[in-house]
Amino acid sequence: MSTTPEGVQEAAAAKRGAFSSRQVFIFAAIGSAVGLGNIWRFPYVAYDNGGGAFVIPYIVALLTAGIPFLFLDYALGHRYRGSAPLSFARLRRGTEGLGWWQVGICFMIAVYYAAVMAWAVRYTIFSFTKAWGDDPEGFFFGKFLQVGATPGVDATPVWGVLIPLLLVWAAILAVMLLGVQKGIGATSVIFIPILVVAFGILVVRSLFLPGAAEGLNALFTPDWGALTDATVWAAAYGQIFFSLSIGFGIMITYSSYVHKHTDMPGSGLVVGFANSSFELLAGIGVFAALGFMAQASGVAVNEVATSGVGLAFVAFPAIISEAPAGALIGVLFFLSLVVAGFTSLVSVIEVVISAVRDKFEMTRTGATVAVTVPMAVISLVFFSTTSGLYVLDILDHFINQFGILLVAVISMLVLSWGLRVLPTFSAHLSDGSSIVVGAWWRILVSIVAPIGLILVLGLAFWEDAKTPYGGYPGWMLAVFGWGAAGAVVVFGFLAAQAKWRDPEALSQVHFNEKGAQS
Ligand code: ALA
Repeated sequence: MSTTPEGVQEAAAAKRGAFSSRQVFIFAAIGSAVGLGNIWRFPYVAYDNGGGAFVIPYIVALLTAGIPFLFLDYALGHRYRGSAPLSFARLRRGTEGLGWWQVGICFMIAVYYAAVMAWAVRYTIFSFTKAWGDDPEGFFFGKFLQVGATPGVDATPVWGVLIPLLLVWAAILAVMLLGVQKGIGATSVIFIPILVVAFGILVVRSLFLPGAAEGLNALFTPDWGALTDATVWAAAYGQIFFSLSIGFGIMITYSSYVHKHTDMPGSGLVVGFANSSFELLAGIGVFAALGFMAQASGVAVNEVATSGVGLAFVAFPAIISEAPAGALIGVLFFLSLVVAGFTSLVSVIEVVISAVRDKFEMTRTGATVAVTVPMAVISLVFFSTTSGLYVLDILDHFINQFGILLVAVISMLVLSWGLRVLPTFSAHLSDGSSIVVGAWWRILVSIVAPIGLILVLGLAFWEDAKTPYGGYPGWMLAVFGWGAAGAVVVFGFLAAQAKWRDPEALSQVHFNEKGAQS
């Protein structure tokens, strides 16, 4: 085996897997970023937070925390060339737990994310027959999900969710077994263009619905007063991190699969702006549709639909039933959800697979089966029952705020103030890029973003401690909310104590920006 820097890197790429080019990496990163977060989550989070009140905090969060943190993830993964735990451990052994914490977050997200995809698979089929009749809301919560009358945990299976969920997991397993380039890379290169075309047609069609302008006014009329509402800011930061796939190890993992001579900041800007453009496009599509519903039923846009996780599954069926060419709108919308969700779910699961592979020196097949099968079982047990929606809603809220945002702020503080690595990371990122990642970035990562996140987290914590989220019973919030968010921290700590199968992996050379060993 070659011992030159190039040789070592090629051997590592052959062993771990790699993207064949920068283009494939960008497709995969956009595939990861653009997902249910953009199409299903953004519209309801924006709707719940007053529509026009949301867009300004969202843009501020994107520019001051989202993009800077994306660059930080890139620097870590690209420079240290490992999964989240391996990259942290190579940087400094004591920080490995931060990587495992993110792996734990991915585990939690994957199990419920797959369930929403299963709903979308079912709704793609329902769109042909308009199975919801004239009551989309009653159909979604009642006939389809069979949600229990009061929140609790119930093991009654819902076959209409269980079967598509099984299919989703089977498809995921197949792609993950194919590996980084042939599985993740190829799926993204095929799916993203399909998504752009399908969604483009959908949004244009929505804009021509009567009442669409009213919906857009609701989304884009700024509500300056709401800027003082802390929960809106917390929701905006949470949405940006979830949507950009940052703070849960994905971008660290993906950038470890990219050739070292790659313009990472340039790629990051493409990914970041593609993601937010898509998100705003989704917002435009859904709010145009809400405007149509409002006009049809003679109420205000903010009163037209149920808020929360069901929004997309209630609003779109209503349009499909009433608008001309409704079935086409439905198929395009739900198919887009499936396609976008798929390329994101693979990225979430890859974080776990790559971490297990790196730590235990497992084969791709062994690690994929060891990770995906238990995830699928947990996902099926918790989310294809009559209480699935409740658990999902709680987990999504807590894991995003007290999982992703918390690990993100701690990572920023540790890297910038504890280890003081930002100058090195700046140089690494800037090398070979037309974008100079200089003092502006270091200030954002070390000061501006942490202050913003600490404020947001403090206020969100206060809010959740004071008022039970969603009115759920205390024990459910304790188990699936606080408990789940706490469990990933404990898991992160414990996993970092386990021995590396090949301790050499930690000291393996990495390469600085000039290609020399460092
Ligand atoms: N970034 C992914 C999404 O938006 C997880 O769905």
